[in-house]
Amino acid sequence: MSVPARLDELYAIGGGTRAGYSPEEDEAHELAAGWMRDAGLEVERDVPGNLFGKRGVARIWSGSHLDTVPDGGRFDGALGVVAAIEAAARLRDLPLAVVAFRAEETGPMGSRRLAELPEAFIEVHIEQGPVLEDAGEPLGIVSSVIGQARGSKTFEGRAAHAGTTPMEARSDALVEAARFVLHVRESAQGGAVATVGAVEVEPGAANVIPGRATASLDLRAPTTESLDALIEAIGFDLAWRQDPVAMSGPPREALRAVLPDAPELVSGAGHDAMVLAAAGVPTAMLFVRSLNGGASHCPDELSSAEDIELAVDALTKTLARLSASDQAGV
Ligand code: GLV
Ligand code: MN
Ligand code: MN
Repeated sequence: MSVPARLDELYAIGGGTRAGYSPEEDEAHELAAGWMRDAGLEVERDVPGNLFGKRGVARIWSGSHLDTVPDGGRFDGALGVVAAIEAAARLRDLPLAVVAFRAEETGPMGSRRLAELPEAFIEVHIEQGPVLEDAGEPLGIVSSVIGQARGSKTFEGRAAHAGTTPMEARSDALVEAARFVLHVRESAQGGAVATVGAVEVEPGAANVIPGRATASLDLRAPTTESLDALIEAIGFDLAWRQDPVAMSGPPREALRAVLPDAPELVSGAGHDAMVLAAAGVPTAMLFVRSLNGGASHCPDELSSAEDIELAVDALTKTLARLSASDQAGV
């Protein structure tokens, strides 16, 4: 089955909504496990639930994630898993592992809890932005992934009757959260971005003044210093942060040798590759051109079958090259 056909099959599970550790993500992992076996790989799962298809002494890994944001696209994450399975099928004798990490969108949760690390990792991913489309280039090599922080801020008010409580007597948690959302927007400057993407309101009824509101925070910044400054300026409960991280070492060199003319770009999105690189694994990322102006995290997300084939071909050659240099001990 072709890579686009497999992406269609995955998309049909949950209609683009496969939350991390949900039954839909489980089903996607089951489907991918079958494709791994067809590609001559032995299927394993680790304690966090990451799925591996291994062949031989698998020191080189390729893959991505199968969870999605709510109503997401069909390429984010899935493309990297399906492309790696296809490359493994084309490289029948090569020792390697294909991996589908758990819950990238809400963590990343699976790649941050790995018990073992590979010697090299390569992730194919849709670009999720307009750079390659604007440049007329099908593929790009990622130079680094920008820094990221996540967390939340909770506002406490007093739940009360929406009809009988005078305006001046109210303590409305959602009104405070609304002011905070504007503060977040104004704090992000100089290439940094910051987003409140979800607000939980309690008790959450039309006729009750909100007693508590909890805003989610997602911050991105190009340098460690600018990420520190943004966290400080916004002020919230930090759950997780990741400094900017460079793609480097033999996987990046092998990808560059296979694609000597491909442009380089910085990833503004977070990835499992970022987690592995930060853990010290030599890591590379190959971006595939996004169409539709770079639309992503929505159903309009699109890459062409032609560009995907170029990416699978480049991944296959890069894995072969990397494996040859690994076996030669260089
Ligand atoms: C992953 O999709 C991210 O939020 O960057
Ligand atoms: Mn992704
Ligand atoms: Mn995503």
